[in-house]
Amino acid sequence: MKLWSGRFSSDTDALVDELNASIGFDRRMYKEDIKGSMAHARMLGAQGIISAEDADKIISALGGIMEDIEAGKLDFSTADEDIHMGVEAELTRRIGDAGKRLHTARSRNDQVALDFRFYLKNEIPEIRDMILSLMAVLAEKARGNLNTVMPAYTHLQRAQPTTFAHYMMAYANMLRRDVTRLEDCLERMDEMPLGSGALTGTTYPIDRRMVAEELGFADITGNSLDGVSDRDYALELMSCLSILMMHLSRFSEEIIMWCSWEFKFVELSDSYSTGSSIMPQKKNPDIAELVRGKTGRVYGSLMGLLTVMKALPLAYNKDMQEDKEQVFDAVDTVKNCLPVFTAMVETMKVLPDNMKNAAAAGFINATDCADYLVKKGMPFRDAYTVVGKLVSFCIATGSTLETLPISEYRSMSDVFDTDVYDAIALETCVAQRSVPGGPAPEAVAEQIAKIETFLEERKVEA
Ligand code: ARG
Repeated sequence: MKLWSGRFSSDTDALVDELNASIGFDRRMYKEDIKGSMAHARMLGAQGIISAEDADKIISALGGIMEDIEAGKLDFSTADEDIHMGVEAELTRRIGDAGKRLHTARSRNDQVALDFRFYLKNEIPEIRDMILSLMAVLAEKARGNLNTVMPAYTHLQRAQPTTFAHYMMAYANMLRRDVTRLEDCLERMDEMPLGSGALTGTTYPIDRRMVAEELGFADITGNSLDGVSDRDYALELMSCLSILMMHLSRFSEEIIMWCSWEFKFVELSDSYSTGSSIMPQKKNPDIAELVRGKTGRVYGSLMGLLTVMKALPLAYNKDMQEDKEQVFDAVDTVKNCLPVFTAMVETMKVLPDNMKNAAAAGFINATDCADYLVKKGMPFRDAYTVVGKLVSFCIATGSTLETLPISEYRSMSDVFDTDVYDAIALETCVAQRSVPGGPAPEAVAEQIAKIETFLEERKVEA
């Protein structure tokens, strides 16, 4: 017998039950559902809506149900439909009439709205801490590589010299924004919807703030129609996670390139790479590729939920039951990726010689060579042309700016002197870029210090 079968004269078809049931995936919210019900029962008792005795009975029986679920002694089936009905039916089996009073002044619509928010609210700090751990690893990698010169690219063409530390801090800054985005999302999500009823609240003299306080919500939702219809907290979280995964995916892509023989800037630890079943020489960056691939899956969750919500009239519609699987999947995916990604980066070996060689071969000091002429009084556009000709001469003769004899320099412009070799040394090029945010070691040290302060404010040892 279904809890809602009062006005029905025949049973639902078995296939309907199968399609209708969400217990298969919403059972993971059992803790939130039970805690929400405990707070609701306590409030009903305090307000005299049910007797104090019934409230106590409900709360203690719910505690028993929680323990039994956790001990693996209680499971639910399709017949329970969803976690809300499963827990309530079990409660009534255990304590009879008192159990039947729990749903007073409540609907499954505000109950599921509460459970889902409550569940996601608890997931955010976990994800945030995982990002912070990755940031700590990046700060540490940066500290150890302040002078590790490498090429930086635009259009994947060698552009200007930077350091591996500068590169790591670029990602650390993206992750810093991912963290604050999640914190903002959590703050907006922190409203308690119970009391919205099915959609227009309730006639009972409930105390919504009492429930919010017990459950640790900062506030209550401000409109009952919105309270049961809103899923933008989940969409916002999916957006945050999509952006986070986009960052991890770009990072993954670089690691994949850096692992190739064409680059060989890094070598992944054997523990975080895989081999090929046929090619004995292969060591593949599968973890980075999986993170890159799973990014699509998280985007899919965002698009999926946006599409479910699009054009739904207020208030609750059953379509909204489709919110959970995709959001859970995205949360699980991110939580599975982050710690492995962090360990992969932490154990990744940097190969400074290869980075340096790549930086030395691509005329990435051409801008600095032009700046040298500018500092001696030549207008930048003229300097740009002179160096352009020098580069083209080097390419034609198989030389580099570092090895080109001074006579060749002077044949292009007599402003050149032997101090040009110092000016275009890669170390000089990096050291001169000491602008805040730049790659000079002292500028990067400042960036690291800022990230470390950010981590300390969130109690993470860098
Ligand atoms: N299992 C439902 C969900 O996940 C709970 C709410 C059902 N409410 C309703 N009136 N059918 O959305």
